[in-house]
Amino acid sequence: MSEKILIIGANGQIGTELVTTLRGIHGAEQVIASDINNPAYAIRHSGPFEFANVLDKDNLHHLFQKHQPTQVYLLAAILSATGEQKPKLAWDLNMNGLLHVLDLAVEFNVAKVFWPSSIAVFGPNSPKQNTPQYCVMDPNTVYGFSKLAGERWCEYYHAKYGLDVRSIRYPGIISWKAAPGGGTTDYAIHIFHEALKTGTYESFLSANTMLPMMYMDDAIRATISLMDAPAENISIRSSYNLAGISFTPEQLAEKVKEHMPEFTITYADNDPRQAIADSWPQSIDDSTAQRDWNWQPEYDINALADTMLKNLKNTLVL
Ligand code: SER
Repeated sequence: MSEKILIIGANGQIGTELVTTLRGIHGAEQVIASDINNPAYAIRHSGPFEFANVLDKDNLHHLFQKHQPTQVYLLAAILSATGEQKPKLAWDLNMNGLLHVLDLAVEFNVAKVFWPSSIAVFGPNSPKQNTPQYCVMDPNTVYGFSKLAGERWCEYYHAKYGLDVRSIRYPGIISWKAAPGGGTTDYAIHIFHEALKTGTYESFLSANTMLPMMYMDDAIRATISLMDAPAENISIRSSYNLAGISFTPEQLAEKVKEHMPEFTITYADNDPRQAIADSWPQSIDDSTAQRDWNWQPEYDINALADTMLKNLKNTLVL
């Protein structure tokens, strides 16, 4: 049976690249991109697009009825930094958007649902190093506890209604094709843009703030591997820990300097995103993802910096 895939939140950092990859695998007409905003150029010109507001269940119902998707990816969300500025909206969108999609997936017999969680589900009392799949979880951002509650709902819909819902706790994702969406890890993207544009960058996180990160190609490969895995291999129905690489702003700046010796970095005082970063893990234990669906990252910090600088040099209007 051919797949019909609906991607909600297709214009975002992950959506933009997932739509392109899935259209390459399944054919352009099989992948319906949808977003609340006007489509990005690459999405508009490569296949079908629909407007969708995850908070409008009737609108979503119409989309499910019209396209009868076999797979749904729900990527619409408000991330950690923006969520602290708009806490009630972040809760509403992240939680009710998910519940609408889970309900409709059950109603329309969708075969598989993907929903992203985050390292933000961990909090100040979670272990910082090699943070395990199961441990104390006391997230103190709205984004973090909306994702943690969302994980509980995913597991619940799987247990109660047999819905095949799969999820990954993404680390900070680094990419160059689309802008990042208001997260605490965004410094690791801004640094490359500013290095090329101005030769200098003020990091909003301190020099030694270590966070788990991943290059986009690894994140897309992980997502598709998880979605392709046989259902009986999926032992986690909340969300899988996933590790790529961990580094600090200072370590990333050193990599930029290897390519651009004149590059300089400074560090801001008192940015509210510092407290968010300080509450998160520094590295992640993803042994269950390795065991269940053979996960292995490919990009280290050198490959990540090379790839970002090479591609941005060609695309940025300097
Ligand atoms: N990149 C996200 C954020 O910083 C983490 O999931 O909010």
